[in-house]
Amino acid sequence: MKQIMMTIAENRQIAKDTFLMRLTGDTSSLTAPGQFLNIKLQDFFLRRPISVCDYDEDGVCIIYKVVGGGTKRMSALTAGETLDVLCGLGNGYDVFKSGERPVLIGGGVGVPPLYGLCRTLTAQGRQVQVILGFNTQAEVFFAEEFRRLGAQVYVTTADGSVGVKGFVTDVLKDLDYSYFYTCGPMPMFRAIEKIAKTSGQYSFEERMGCGFGACMGCSCKTIAGAKRICKEGPVLEREEILW
Ligand SMILES: Cc1cc2nc3c(=O)[nH]c(=O)nc-3n(C[C@H](O)[C@H](O)[C@H](O)COP(=O)(O)OP(=O)(O)OC[C@H]3O[C@@H](n4cnc5c(N)ncnc54)[C@H](O)[C@@H]3O)c2cc1C
Ligand code: FES
Repeated sequence: MKQIMMTIAENRQIAKDTFLMRLTGDTSSLTAPGQFLNIKLQDFFLRRPISVCDYDEDGVCIIYKVVGGGTKRMSALTAGETLDVLCGLGNGYDVFKSGERPVLIGGGVGVPPLYGLCRTLTAQGRQVQVILGFNTQAEVFFAEEFRRLGAQVYVTTADGSVGVKGFVTDVLKDLDYSYFYTCGPMPMFRAIEKIAKTSGQYSFEERMGCGFGACMGCSCKTIAGAKRICKEGPVLEREEILW
């Protein structure tokens, strides 16, 4: 983990209440898809954790939804402004367990970290399937970007305005896959847990305090005792989680 200053290269709306921000700066502390940044915002005591959507040697891309004061502040920032960022937090996904035909399941703002994961897995020659779940068409983002990586993409919306009407599990139940990776809200995790046919990894976007392992504010029960989502997570293996 490194504390660095990053410069905003781009910050634009890509869907309802949803923004894409590109930041340039030192990304040497990033080692795996699924890690996250913790961003300091002026006038906010706690940093805001946001997953890395993708990165290269020059910078990172993040996608965030405006849900409160911090993300509202982020949405008003413009190119050229700088941000104090803790970079390279968390463990990220283990890409070596995927098998030949993994499925990536994202719900809402759980979709971004799956993009970098998809890029890594397709580069390894895996046949990647992706299920993206949203409430409605106006919230959908990145379906085309995943397709351009060569993935088979399914979109679901709760109101049926685009793609399959229903939830990610309505697609997952009929799919053949070797392993699953997911990120999204807890109700989606519980639904996946009921029907998943293989091992897999869950990435938790729990509320956080310190963000670097000091306060225990993000603990999750596992078979090996409590694990801190910010430090030993955000990715946990299916078999270790106590639901
Ligand atoms: C590891 C990790 C990765 C994340 N990645 C992303 C991402 O890629 N994109 C993204 O949009 N968001 C992501 N989040 C969630 C993001 O951190 C919160 O939405 C953000 O901190 C809210 O800040 P705020 O000041 O706008 O809202 P606040 O004013 O803090 O909260 C507004 C409302 O949102 C709820 N809320 C805040 N944080 C969370 C949370 N973590 N889970 C559920 N509800 C919450 C609050 O209860 C409240 O109702 C991630 C969280 C974690 C822990
Ligand atoms: S947020 Fe403090 S230990 Fe995880």
